[in-house]
Order: sequence, then C-alpha cells, then structure tokens
Amino acid sequence: MGDMTTAADAGPTKSTSPDGRRVWVQDRLVSAEEARVSATDHGLVAGGGVFESLKVTSDGAFAISRHLARLSRSAKALGLPEPDHQRVREAIEAVAAECDYEVGIVRVTWTGGVGPLGSSAAFGPPTLVVADAPTPAAPENTAIVTLPWLRNERGAMTGIKTTSYAENIRGLGHAHERDASEGVFVNTAGNVSEGTGANLFVVLDGEVVTSPLSSGALAGITRDLVRAWSPVVERDLTLAEAQAADEVFLTSSLRDVQRVTRWDDRRYADDGPVVAGLRELFAERAAADLDPV
Ligand SMILES: Cc1ncc(COP(=O)(O)O)c(C=O)c1O
Repeated sequence: MGDMTTAADAGPTKSTSPDGRRVWVQDRLVSAEEARVSATDHGLVAGGGVFESLKVTSDGAFAISRHLARLSRSAKALGLPEPDHQRVREAIEAVAAECDYEVGIVRVTWTGGVGPLGSSAAFGPPTLVVADAPTPAAPENTAIVTLPWLRNERGAMTGIKTTSYAENIRGLGHAHERDASEGVFVNTAGNVSEGTGANLFVVLDGEVVTSPLSSGALAGITRDLVRAWSPVVERDLTLAEAQAADEVFLTSSLRDVQRVTRWDDRRYADDGPVVAGLRELFAERAAADLDPV
C-alpha cells in the first residue's frame, strides 16, 4: 500500500464550504449557502455542461489561459455558447484570491442553463459556477490499474471535458477499490487511451511516449506542457507494450508529473531517471510562469 495515493487523486476532500469559502455563481461571489442554480439546469438534468479543473496555490490559479481556451473548445463541441473569457477569468481570480491553503482545486462549470427534462439542447442563458476546495498535495508515486471498460475513441464527446463524467466516476471508483489512484482505459482498437482524469506516459528505451489524441485521450494541459518542454513521441501503444515500459507516469493539473510504481501486477522502480528529471523540469517551469501559453 506504500504507493497507494489518497484524496489528491480523487479531487477535493469536501464539496461544501463549512469554513465559509465562497462560490462564484453567474456574476458574483456568494456564500456556499447562497450558491444556487436551477433544479432544471441542463448540467444537472442531462450532463449538458463543460468544465475545467485548475490547480490553485497562494500564487494563484495555474495555466488560466490554456484552461479558458479548452473550456471554449469544449463548449463549442457540445453546442453551448462560448463563455466570455474575461468574465470567467475574473471569477477564477476572485475565487483564487481567497485561497488560504497550500494547494487546491478551482473548478469552473459552464452549463446550458435551464432546459428541457431530456436531451434536447438547453434554453439558456448558460450557468457559470466557479468553486474551490483545498486538496492534499499529490504524492510522488502512485499505483494504477487497467479498467475493464473501454474508452470509445470515436464517441461524439470523446476528448471533450463535459460534465457527463459518469464513466470516469465509475472507473475511478474501480481503481480505488483496488488500492490504486487511477484507472487506465484501453480503447476499442486495443490501444492505451488515458486515465479517468489523467494522461498516461511511458518511457521505452529512453524515449518518452504518450498516446495520440486519436486514442480517445483528452488534450490534457499538463500533457501539452510536458510535450512543449521536453521531447515526447505520440504514438499508439498496446497495453502489453505500455506495461513493459521502463518507467510510467501520469500527468494532470492536480498531479503534475506523477510516477507510477505499480500498474496491475507490474512494479516499476521508484527512482527511474527520466520521470525524476521530468518532475523536476515541470516543477521549475511551472514555478517560473504561472500562465504558460
Ligand atoms: C479524462 C481526462 N484526461 C486527462 C486529464 C488531464 O488533463 P489536465 O492536464 O488538463 O488536467 C483530465 C483532467 O482532469 C481528464 O479529465
């Protein structure tokens, strides 16, 4: 259980704000008790919404510009109006400014607003909610398992960060039940796709490899930054090939670069040099620029 991770992987440890934390709803910060959206909001009724999760520290929220760009791409893909970036940025910054902990999550949710009790498009206007919560710092090492369900790399919403995340909830629960912090989806072609909330990388003969977006993986912001800051090859990987790697790691906004030391019944050293170097590089570059574009 040494490589078991905890709530840092699963997200925030609380969803309400007993400590008085405030939530941004539409155009202002309100107390958690006052933070309300309609009971027929399409995000609630049909998962008709998109979202972003940003890491926040006392320095502020990390990579806001990239998260805003992806929020817009997701909204467009779902047929929602695109959010006004200035408005969402103001909301994120207002929430982040109240951050009184070492590390946390800022969650931006943008839904279709009030809508029908079915799958037709919402009537709007869209709902904006920005909330935060402290999280434990992600452990250096973690364990993962292969999920028994497939990622459909040809699904209409594959690669889009929608609030319809039930498959990921189920997958993460499956991993937690097995003392792992993340579950890995293989796609319908038999190639490794991604985790429920993280991208997967492997080191094969000194080369850092990650699955292409055509595998069904989300275009992770941490994944993109690792690719921008260090050589990475994108190519399809079978499960057997990926598991035979020398080193394995996950990337996500809350994990940054996190080493995998167990994947199903395979073990990986906890001191492999490539992941050690990438962890250091990521920490340095992220500390030097809060909003790398
Ligand atoms: C399905 C999925 N894959 C990958 C990631 C990692 O993306 P990012 O690095 O932007 O956090 C996430 C983010 O939470 C995700 O939900």
